[in-house]
Amino acid sequence: MSYNVATTALGCTDRGETAEHHQSLRPRPACKVVKCVSQGHLSRVTYWGPGSMLLLLLPRSAAAMNPCCYYPCQNTGVCVRFGTDGYKCDCSHTGYYGENCTIPEFRTQIRLKLKPSPSVVHYLLTHFKWFWDIINNSFLCDTIMRLVLVVRNDLIPSPPTYNSRYGYISWESYNNISYYTRLLPPVPEDCPLPMGTKGKLVLPDVEVLAERFFKRQTFRPDPQGTNLMFAFMAQHFTHQFFKTDHTAKGGFTKALGHGVDASNIYGEGLDRQHQLRLHKDGKLKYQVIDGEMYPPKTSEVPVHMVYPEGFPDEQRLAIGQEVFGLLPGLTMYATIWLREHNRVCDILKTEHPTWDDEQLFQTTRLIIIGEIINIIIEEYVQHLSGYYLKLTYDPTLLFTERFQYTNRIALEFCHLYHWHPLMPDSFLIDGAEIPFSQFLYNTSILTLYGVEKLVDAFSRQPAGQIGGGRNTHGLLLRVAEKIIGESRATRLQSFNQYRKRFNLKPYTSFYELTDNTEIAEGLEELYGDIDALEFYPGLLLEKTRPGCIFGESMVEMGAPFSLKGLFGNPINSPEYWKPSTFGGETGFNIIKTSTLRKLVCLNTKWCPYVDFHVPKLILTINTSAHVYQGSFTEP
Ligand code: HEM
Repeated sequence: MSYNVATTALGCTDRGETAEHHQSLRPRPACKVVKCVSQGHLSRVTYWGPGSMLLLLLPRSAAAMNPCCYYPCQNTGVCVRFGTDGYKCDCSHTGYYGENCTIPEFRTQIRLKLKPSPSVVHYLLTHFKWFWDIINNSFLCDTIMRLVLVVRNDLIPSPPTYNSRYGYISWESYNNISYYTRLLPPVPEDCPLPMGTKGKLVLPDVEVLAERFFKRQTFRPDPQGTNLMFAFMAQHFTHQFFKTDHTAKGGFTKALGHGVDASNIYGEGLDRQHQLRLHKDGKLKYQVIDGEMYPPKTSEVPVHMVYPEGFPDEQRLAIGQEVFGLLPGLTMYATIWLREHNRVCDILKTEHPTWDDEQLFQTTRLIIIGEIINIIIEEYVQHLSGYYLKLTYDPTLLFTERFQYTNRIALEFCHLYHWHPLMPDSFLIDGAEIPFSQFLYNTSILTLYGVEKLVDAFSRQPAGQIGGGRNTHGLLLRVAEKIIGESRATRLQSFNQYRKRFNLKPYTSFYELTDNTEIAEGLEELYGDIDALEFYPGLLLEKTRPGCIFGESMVEMGAPFSLKGLFGNPINSPEYWKPSTFGGETGFNIIKTSTLRKLVCLNTKWCPYVDFHVPKLILTINTSAHVYQGSFTEP
């Protein structure tokens, strides 16, 4: 019986040398190339690694190994299988050439020489405040902001490419918007190992992963000072475009707007929208409690909402997003946006008394979308980035650039945004400490305390650090397990593959990924190979940048998705971005001058402390919980 011999294509250079001889490819400790064959045909090459051991057991005919399982094509080159054991890398438009797209073109060589590393850029942007104070007040601020946008956007393919069903470009993948898109194609089905050719035959048990690396031991507050006002904004904002369809397995979404469409306020689809609308003066339906406006009850507005069985009817609120009854933080934001919508309707009606309900509603919706984008860029992303460079929401910055005003939400973005470590152990409101269990599905907290007290409380309470591991509340571990399970079902490529996709160096060991030796040892034991580490564990367990909420990868991967989603919105296009779209200068100015503080304080009786940052603390935070010692100074 003859046996096929497998290879590591990644170990071969364009000249058919072994990887060890090539500067740009790092040697692989787990494999050894004895002989490489040129022209992308992979035969008669010996490879020793876990994947090859499997293959050696197979008869020659059955073991024709898909060479793309080795991910031979570098620098975003596309691997296409030819024949049974051949492949070619398509290096078009990558800036590289050669069999495996490893040789930089002249322009790429210059770019690589000039381009600072992400950590250097991050360091510069988060230090030298005096310098940025000068830049922020000069024309250079716009130039740098434009550069940030262009560089980040370039990493997101537009039009979208793959999805969980199609690992190659196809019309179905482009046209069927029920899928989340994918930046990297799924691991081919016929690979010998779950992650291709690296790691173990079986991936670690998700419960073991959650218990050993995700479960909180003691609450670790975010060193950037992120608070619960931010955490609930993150959840409220993202759940307009992350609505995974769990009934249809395979990376499907129910959020067909694929971006900031405010469907979390107005509902997905016309039926729900019409149920939620008052059909008078463009407004949304509401109920009044203690003289204040709140979302209506489901008994009045019978839209589907997720509440536990037996949940009292009078406490079921009807909101655009069906899962927002889950947390008072979400019903609070739903209330604020409801009030803001109706407030803007009143303003537009004064200026346009002839407009009908429909035009008032539609124009207000566009203003609300603009307000959301502004607050997210200028306050939320600004806070998250920790940059001293002032991030500005000015769509005209991109008018001179080649930019597509369209967006498709990616599965990777959805996975990446599972920021559950933000949640604390309990919630401190108006002197009361509410345990986690009593906080869930408790809509009476909102109506009891009112928006002002909730905003005040959430703005003062620190949120947990997202990165670094071991900071997820026990009750939320199940969510982490599910997302890892889903990434397996949809065959997400490894964390290191995504590092490369985002121009980051792949980690060479678990000890480079994290400074926590216990976590590194544990991961090594369970995964066997750093190249087999999964996407979500990689993101959450990576060492955090000093004093930061998460590590390098979360920023470098999250920011491009985020900025493309925000700026790719049609309202930012030259056709839309003009006063007439928003009912005139008044509406246009509401967008341009919107802030979180105005959003809250124009819709409340008194103005609480409101920010995405806990108040500047004097003295220490007791890290064992959420208790502060010392007093606050309001900014
Ligand atoms: C106490 C607070 C929270 C609870 C109880 C909670 C619970 C859940 C649950 C049960 C899921 C669905 C999991 C699944 O079926 O796969 C989920 C999904 C998700 N959560 Fe949370 N979560 C909380 C806070 C947050 C926060 C603060 C964020 C911040 C961004 C967040 C982001 C997400 C995302 C992005 C998804 C995926 C949504 C989708 O794919 O449809 N969650 N969460």
